[in-house]
Amino acid sequence: MISNKISSGINGNIKIPGDKSISHRSIIIPSISNGISEVNNILMSDDVLHTMNALKALGVKIINENNKLLIYGKGLNSLTKAPQNIYLGNSGTSARLLTGLLASQSFNSTIEGDKSLSLRPMNRIMDPLKIMGGKFNNTSGRLPLKIIGKKLKNSNIDIEIPSAQIKSGLILAAINTEGVSKIIEKNITRDHTENMLKSFGAEISIEKKGQETSIMINGKKELKSNNINVPSDLSSSAFFIVAALINKGSKICMQNININPTRDGILIALKKMGGKIEIKNRRTFSGETVADLEVEHTELKGCELDSEIAKLMIDEYPILSIAAAFANGPSLFKGLGELKVKESDRLELIRLNLLRCGCECEVKNDDLLIKPSKVYLPKNFKIRTDFDHRIAMSFAIMGSKIGNLIIEDTESINTSFPNFNNIFNSTGGKFL
Ligand code: S3P
Repeated sequence: MISNKISSGINGNIKIPGDKSISHRSIIIPSISNGISEVNNILMSDDVLHTMNALKALGVKIINENNKLLIYGKGLNSLTKAPQNIYLGNSGTSARLLTGLLASQSFNSTIEGDKSLSLRPMNRIMDPLKIMGGKFNNTSGRLPLKIIGKKLKNSNIDIEIPSAQIKSGLILAAINTEGVSKIIEKNITRDHTENMLKSFGAEISIEKKGQETSIMINGKKELKSNNINVPSDLSSSAFFIVAALINKGSKICMQNININPTRDGILIALKKMGGKIEIKNRRTFSGETVADLEVEHTELKGCELDSEIAKLMIDEYPILSIAAAFANGPSLFKGLGELKVKESDRLELIRLNLLRCGCECEVKNDDLLIKPSKVYLPKNFKIRTDFDHRIAMSFAIMGSKIGNLIIEDTESINTSFPNFNNIFNSTGGKFL
């Protein structure tokens, strides 16, 4: 697809779809609880559909009634063996969370994924599960992965890598394991699994000591069904926030955006760059903090971000880099090693594509330095995405400023934001 320059900014009230992380959990947790859960505003993207089809294959009745999901949970031990391998497409969240969920079942499962997912590391979830007695038939540390379902033993586990996917996989294993398991994370990561499990009656308690969080789970306690309203996705809204900040004449509003403090680094970063972002009507629903955002065009400043904030906004560096490319000075983003093992090597694709657009950019170890150019001349540049949705959408926003960017493999956008083009174009964008 081609992203064209826009003339009078983006404007209006924008409805952002449901949060991807919470949507995955809104299928998995009701599926192992007791009773019917109603889920509203779930994200119907390819990644989430893979989680839904996986749970259906594991015997759970799930009905889609006018965009409201009804999930008929029958308890912690109600899942049944899938008739064939479970295909998870591009979805790392499905792969890591389901590995934890399936490790404690009484049957074996095999999960597999597309080309990109099959290159991503799975040892990060298999290794800590092995401490609990988890068993896998796999030597590559990658998908396909055969999970030998068995009774696990409650354990204390330290997580070294900052990853909510690892933490959540372990919590899902611990919830079906007799006794108290303790999961200790050294870094703050998104806590949607803990929030939702609490609202389903799980015996889970959390202790914080500085940066360290201990999560205690008393397993084998049945969960009660609950209704969920999935808030709108901050990560998806970030493309519109940056589009509005960098394009003159823009003013947008977005309602019900999830601003969970374990996820709101992008707002902190853009505000540090001077972005006019107003956060209004803060409130809590379904255990999550949401607010309405109002954003206006701003001349941004460059900024330096340390590695601590990376954990609060790991998915937002592609779009933050576009903001940095239009700031009035250089930006330095530190500690981005985890970007190398996402849907693509995002650190390399940000560098390569910014250079193609004429923006000076350097990666040193795990740090990214961006030096904005004085002028970006529109040419027919090709943007390589390696089928990564966030790279594709970020450079679509770049195109709204410099024009004529040919973005490759844009089907990937369906993994997290199926209606992105239409919504962007209805606000003034020209992504065709
Ligand atoms: C996610 C956690 C993050 C994030 C991913 C979604 C989740 O991955 O990048 O898009 O829903 O738990 P890591 O936990 O591996 O950093």
